[in-house]
Amino acid sequence: MVGPSSLANVHIACIMDGNGRWAKRRGLPRTAGHTAGEENLAEVVRVCAQRGIGRLTVFGFSTENWVRPPAEVRHILSLHKKLFGRVDELNANNVRIQWIGRPFDEPGSRTPAYVQRAIQRAITDTAGNTGMVLTVAFDYGSRAELVRASRLSAQLGEVTETSIDSHLYDPEMPRVDVVVRTSGESRISNFLLWQIAGAKVYFTERTWPDFDAQEIDAALKLIHAT
Ligand code: IPE
Ligand code: IPE
Ligand code: MG
Repeated sequence: MVGPSSLANVHIACIMDGNGRWAKRRGLPRTAGHTAGEENLAEVVRVCAQRGIGRLTVFGFSTENWVRPPAEVRHILSLHKKLFGRVDELNANNVRIQWIGRPFDEPGSRTPAYVQRAIQRAITDTAGNTGMVLTVAFDYGSRAELVRASRLSAQLGEVTETSIDSHLYDPEMPRVDVVVRTSGESRISNFLLWQIAGAKVYFTERTWPDFDAQEIDAALKLIHAT
């Protein structure tokens, strides 16, 4: 059994997949699946915070996802504004929000200014919270993160595990204990490749909008399973 104090040291990372399939099964447009996925994320955040979990990192949008149809991309962008706008809920649950992804000033960065502002405001407005740290990966790709960390390390004259660690998008992020992927896919899809080196992996058939507290507990159980 995982006790409350040990959960404070636990880091869960979720590849939130299957929003499109969730919608398709209900005869709804894909955008409705993304809306349901964002709402479920808010619920998962609340459950994890109340369990006393220390870190939750979620894959919201990848560097590869920009090729999706423009209307779908616009909808997903607006949902990130909504997600980063949930400051009252985050504060009520003592959750500090963070973001990882391609820096906004880097060539190729496509994050619109209104999403940048929502991200920056949420980080500032939840900075004082002392409970769970929620990190949203948006315009994130692990290979790009590692290329950047290697380049910055090399500029300083040495490339070691420690130097790579200190040049990741969030150098404070601890290693991942368990990575979750929903919707029956058993791929990592360029998510946190460095940070999940020693992690357990929990694959579930559930689509992301149906991922619930029982699923979180099943993923947590893997951490202490031999
Ligand atoms: C995950 O759901 C959300 C994002 C990748 C942004 P998908 O949109 O990938 O859903 P499926 O895989 O098509 O079901
Ligand atoms: C991974 O899901 C990215 C996110 C959850 C944001 P995708 O649905 O984009 O992944 P692939 O392309 O099927 O591997
Ligand atoms: Mg998918």
